[in-house]
Amino acid sequence: MNLLIGILQGLTAGNLLQTDRGRTFWMPPQGSTGASSVDNVFDLIFWISMFFFALIVIVMVVFVFRYRARGRELDSKPGVPKHNFRLELAWTIIPLLIVIGIFYVGLRGFLDMAVPPANAYEVQVTAQRWKWLFTYPNGYVDENLHVPVGRPIQLVMTSEDVIHSFFVPDFRLKMDVVPGRYSKTWFEAKNPGQHQIFCTEYCGTGHSDMLASVVVHEPGGFERWLEDAADFIENLPPAEAGQMLYQQRGCAQCHSVDGRAGIGPTLKGIFGQTHPMQDGSSVTVDEDYIRESILDPQAKVVAGYQPVMPTFQGKLKDKEITVIIAYIKSLTDSGGEQEEG
Ligand code: CUA
Repeated sequence: MNLLIGILQGLTAGNLLQTDRGRTFWMPPQGSTGASSVDNVFDLIFWISMFFFALIVIVMVVFVFRYRARGRELDSKPGVPKHNFRLELAWTIIPLLIVIGIFYVGLRGFLDMAVPPANAYEVQVTAQRWKWLFTYPNGYVDENLHVPVGRPIQLVMTSEDVIHSFFVPDFRLKMDVVPGRYSKTWFEAKNPGQHQIFCTEYCGTGHSDMLASVVVHEPGGFERWLEDAADFIENLPPAEAGQMLYQQRGCAQCHSVDGRAGIGPTLKGIFGQTHPMQDGSSVTVDEDYIRESILDPQAKVVAGYQPVMPTFQGKLKDKEITVIIAYIKSLTDSGGEQEEG
């Protein structure tokens, strides 16, 4: 699979963009200042392996032809050396020096990546099934990681549920995100542009959908973006602000708005409907029920669904819940067929 990706990347490497610097047959473009040190270690190990692979195969093939069928005679002849002390010393000491060299280069790169510079800008990262959330110093939460170009960014990461892993191939950045503790990592983006974020720790049904982007802003652009983004609830009609929250906070991972049943029930047309619950009772969907389902999702679970929704207690403010309710209402106003669930 990696080879296939490598071949595809090699084929597309012909049209190099500005942001494609550092892209090779094996590696995606180098989007961060730390990427080259990772690639250097990779290249070092790769070429040492290639050298010894070629050496061993060539020597093996040559010996196969040169000493064919003569081994048994040699074994029984007196005076033929059984081992060679200098040769054995050489093939022990040379590989030892090589692995010490690899360790040194790797350790230096690791330490550079482990210790963030003192002036790093801090962003909180929360992983939950199956969504990344990025919280900025002013309290604004976004579904993508926006950063200024050319400034070290420190990520302080934790998980709401299971172990996830934060992975940005272009930055050569990968770090586990573990519930109940904080893991830290940092990077500095080299050019404005976009980079893909993956989850690389299998975390359940939606693992492969646990995607996000790093958006690297031009100088000055990040501050403008953050100011505008933080005011969206004031600046938008409630239903539209609710739709943004629906996207940003991970509701969309489980609740469709087109009538399809997902991990959770669809939100389309549910407002005002009466639904059967798991415990046999039934509930009419109104403002209070939506609010309760957001803050205490396990209180009333719709029949036919698992109680897997995380609570948003402390994560959504009252005015945010209000605009989400407005959005869910708007999904009914627009009419259309309704589905059970
Ligand atoms: Cu989160 Cu895999």
